[in-house]
Amino acid sequence: ATPEQLEPRPPVVTVMGHVDHGKTTLLDSLRGADVAAGEAGGITQHIGAFTVTLENGERVTFLDTPGHAAFSAMRARGAVATDIIVLVVAAEDGVMAQTREVIQLAKEAQVPIIVALNKIDKPEANIEKSKRELAQMGLTLEEHGGDVQVIPISALKGTNLPLLAEAVSTQATLMGLKADPTGLVEGIVIESKTDPRRGKLSTAIVSRGTLRKGSVLLSGLAHAKVRGLFDHNGQPLTEAAPGMPVEILGWRELPLAGELILEVETEKKAHAVLKHREHQAQLEKIESSSDEIRKKDEE
Ligand code: GTP
Ligand code: NA
Ligand code: MG
Repeated sequence: ATPEQLEPRPPVVTVMGHVDHGKTTLLDSLRGADVAAGEAGGITQHIGAFTVTLENGERVTFLDTPGHAAFSAMRARGAVATDIIVLVVAAEDGVMAQTREVIQLAKEAQVPIIVALNKIDKPEANIEKSKRELAQMGLTLEEHGGDVQVIPISALKGTNLPLLAEAVSTQATLMGLKADPTGLVEGIVIESKTDPRRGKLSTAIVSRGTLRKGSVLLSGLAHAKVRGLFDHNGQPLTEAAPGMPVEILGWRELPLAGELILEVETEKKAHAVLKHREHQAQLEKIESSSDEIRKKDEE
């Protein structure tokens, strides 16, 4: 094996928080877009993934997640794929159900949190009360000698967004994020769907290696020969390096969100591994159904 060639990579930052606390608006402001306005019912229903170049020139990969209660599996997968969580809390509401869920997820996944205390332009905003509630949730805020930064912002007006970006950069620098852009690709599936026009598509984040057209990929019981790579706006990419989100076209089966992606050298090898995995899955099925029969017998 060749020695690892580690190079700096952009941090993957997942924006999470209670429904309507302003996650999509924040991301829109950070990249000068207007996604929130175009969403059905103003509700995010999927994980958006894109790379933003901050004013200091650093690149950050952001994942947007839905705050709606029904999307907790999606948030859990987002937490696994991430280096840093930006927890958006509307200062008019303070800590709510999905705020608590995110704090729990971050703890379990051991991912650092930066709090964006949003909507401070509103007269109902109560910064001190929100901070107290966050402290009560077990977050030790920087002003209390801890390491959790709370940045009061207005996503809508753009207030303090450079401060938030700086907090993200500082945290990422502290973590010294590096990856090997050479060798066989590894990644994680963020989302999967069948596009009526383009076919089976997945959004993924590359964690090592550099993904290119022609790569043969395995993910669970799915495999692909990559036919096309695209960015968040559907623009074709020639390659995707570590820390970059990418849409992958060419799956024969749809890979599951949250699954690992591994590159293999040849399609022949992919078929052999798939056969083995399918066999394994079959065995597990038989085992669990015989367990069930045994349980029934015991009753
Ligand atoms: P979900 O994805 O559905 O969980 O919502 P979200 O967290 O992405 O919230 P979204 O960005 O859709 O914003 C919800 C509402 O809050 C919208 O009407 C925004 O315009 C509004 N909003 C977001 N940020 C601010 C802010 O800083 N100030 C004010 N006044 N309104 C805001
Ligand atoms: Na919303
Ligand atoms: Mg949203």
